[in-house]
Amino acid sequence: MTDLGQLLDVMIARIETVRAPVESRIERALRSVPRHEYVPPLVLIAEDDRPPFVIDRDTDPDRWLRSVYTETALVTQLDDGATDLRDMDGSYSSSSSAPATVADLLELLDPRPGDRVLEVGTGTGWTAALLCHLAGEQNVTSVEVDPSIGEAAAKNLAAAGLRPHLVVGDGAEGVAGRAPFDRVHVTCAVRTVPYAWVEQCRLGAVIVTPMRMGVGDGHVLRLVVLPDGTAQGGFREYASYMSYSRLADAYDDPALRPPWDDDRDEDEEMSTLEASAWSEMRNLPPMPAAWFAEPTPAELPPGSGGVHYAAGRIYGWVAQRGVPHEAFPAAT
Ligand SMILES: C[S@@+](CC[C@H](N)C(=O)[O-])C[C@H]1O[C@@H](n2cnc3c(N)ncnc32)[C@H](O)[C@@H]1O
Repeated sequence: MTDLGQLLDVMIARIETVRAPVESRIERALRSVPRHEYVPPLVLIAEDDRPPFVIDRDTDPDRWLRSVYTETALVTQLDDGATDLRDMDGSYSSSSSAPATVADLLELLDPRPGDRVLEVGTGTGWTAALLCHLAGEQNVTSVEVDPSIGEAAAKNLAAAGLRPHLVVGDGAEGVAGRAPFDRVHVTCAVRTVPYAWVEQCRLGAVIVTPMRMGVGDGHVLRLVVLPDGTAQGGFREYASYMSYSRLADAYDDPALRPPWDDDRDEDEEMSTLEASAWSEMRNLPPMPAAWFAEPTPAELPPGSGGVHYAAGRIYGWVAQRGVPHEAFPAAT
């Protein structure tokens, strides 16, 4: 086997080709929690610039190991397990997230030793293990919706000698029995921020979640929980949690197209986005939860690509589907 220290050096260097240098606490965690201990033998690599392919540890162990220590996401399940990974065609339903994205989210979350952390989306267990390293294993609760994925993660974590509190269930409900939390780390993109997460947090707690909004390819929201039981925050990072092709699915409308052409190159996409509602959103001060109300058709006209910015207000993403938190007035 190639030397683990060298592989970790390569992974950190590759991460830093796509983002700023990793904060030292997070880098220490990444070096202390070897990713290969959490990655299943068969993975699918699907990147924009080449056709998807699978790597099998049993037949190509060196390539598998080298692939684990890149900045790449490793897809571990298709269509909730209904499609074999080797078919390479389906909706990605579980993965070991891209290390650069993991670093982004952990830096935003900033878990400290002793913080009680709720993770939504245990997946392989790798990020749960990183949270154990950062906050202490007794403080980490991780919930996974898919029982078989949860079982595999439990085995991975136990083999590494880690015992976070693992739950199989819908992370949207949080884990009330383990509340209150200081940090909520979400590793699957949501279209709404479930109020249970806010409710189960302490004052000043931080919630970091990828959002699937329909503009761009996944954006990370960082919210801080306020004394009145609400949370506010803004978009802080970009994270690739959803491919453009799934945009329409997210809005249940196969005719919906993003406000840019898929075949443009990335720079052009970004410049289009710069002029969009999205760039307005990023520049706004922290936004209260009431702004996350489900938009009416008038507020979110067809063709607006999922987000509509008008008169200083943003429509198109939600905290509680159709029900703004009662502490805030309804959208005006
Ligand atoms: C990107 S993967 C998680 C990556 C993981 N943190 C890791 O290190 O391997 C997202 C996971 O979220 C899970 N998931 C999706 N919806 C969920 C829900 N409502 N509640 C809990 N887990 C969910 C998926 O089954 C999947 O395993």
